Amino acid sequence: MTVFILSVSEYIYSTNRIYEEAKKRGHIVKVINHTECSVKLSNKKRGVFYKGRNIISDAKAIIPRIGTTTTKHGSFVVKEFEMNDVFTTSTSSGIVLSQDKVKSLQVLSKHKIQIPETIFSVNPNDINTQINLLGGAPIVIKLHEGTQGKGVMLAESNQSAKSIIDTMYSIHKPILLQEFIKESKSEDIRAFVVGDKVVATMKRSGVKNDFRSNIHLGGKGSVVRLTDEEEKIAIKAAKELGLTIAGVDLIRSKRGLLVLEVNSTPGLQGIEECTKVNIAEKIIKHIEATCS
Ligand SMILES: Nc1ncnc2c1ncn2[C@@H]1O[C@H](COP(=O)(O)OP(=O)(O)O)[C@@H](O)[C@H]1O
Ligand SMILES: [Mg+2]
Repeated sequence: MTVFILSVSEYIYSTNRIYEEAKKRGHIVKVINHTECSVKLSNKKRGVFYKGRNIISDAKAIIPRIGTTTTKHGSFVVKEFEMNDVFTTSTSSGIVLSQDKVKSLQVLSKHKIQIPETIFSVNPNDINTQINLLGGAPIVIKLHEGTQGKGVMLAESNQSAKSIIDTMYSIHKPILLQEFIKESKSEDIRAFVVGDKVVATMKRSGVKNDFRSNIHLGGKGSVVRLTDEEEKIAIKAAKELGLTIAGVDLIRSKRGLLVLEVNSTPGLQGIEECTKVNIAEKIIKHIEATCS
């Protein structure tokens, strides 16, 4: 079958891995740069135009690999394919939702998926109340649009929490406040979901004296196993957000497994190297099973 990978470059590691596996399995595969696609809406002929051609009916499936800087336009392109009954591994609404920390936590908690206690507010007049709603410091403060651990802060006292929150409100930076899960000890778990399975899991441990475990900040990956119950939580989190491929970030807490966030464009390099699982092949096999 013909498969499109929507990605800004064929040289990105994960894009390239998926491309190679799709080719190996005999598919016609093309990398389509979604930022170079124009969507034409019309009462006559509508479609997605790429290099002068309407490609809306050319593929049986698409694999969106939409980064944070191109989410909005990328989701429009994905939606157009979706409306033309092309199978997509992430729905356009799932892409938008997962890149919004607040809305995705709202959806997850509504579906009874456990998350750290979270507050969002823009009111500079009752910061003490907001901190107290989380039981006081230490608390985690996150920028809405942060990624790779940048924009995630730990305030260890009420005083420092108040000054950080005050500053963020005054410069109009949207933030969320979160209960600090101390027992996570700078560790979290990335569960890679494909379809209705967790295909690989990796524990990430942060560098000394940093509570953030992100690999981009020097965190190290190691192999970990989830219980069946924990796997079910990761699969449900991806499903409720409309994603059949997802990186679900989890923390083991005293009260059980908590979902931190869900990524619709999870990287393959770190987790494939750490776990030795051929995730790219699993993605293609999932598409074959779904589309045939
Ligand atoms: N509430 C929390 N309690 C303890 N550690 C946290 C909490 N929230 C985030 N972390 C740590 O910080 C890291 C980055 O936070 P995350 O919300 O995933 O932001 P980003 O999108 O920047 O990766 C997590 O991987 C985790 O290690
Ligand atoms: Mg994260």
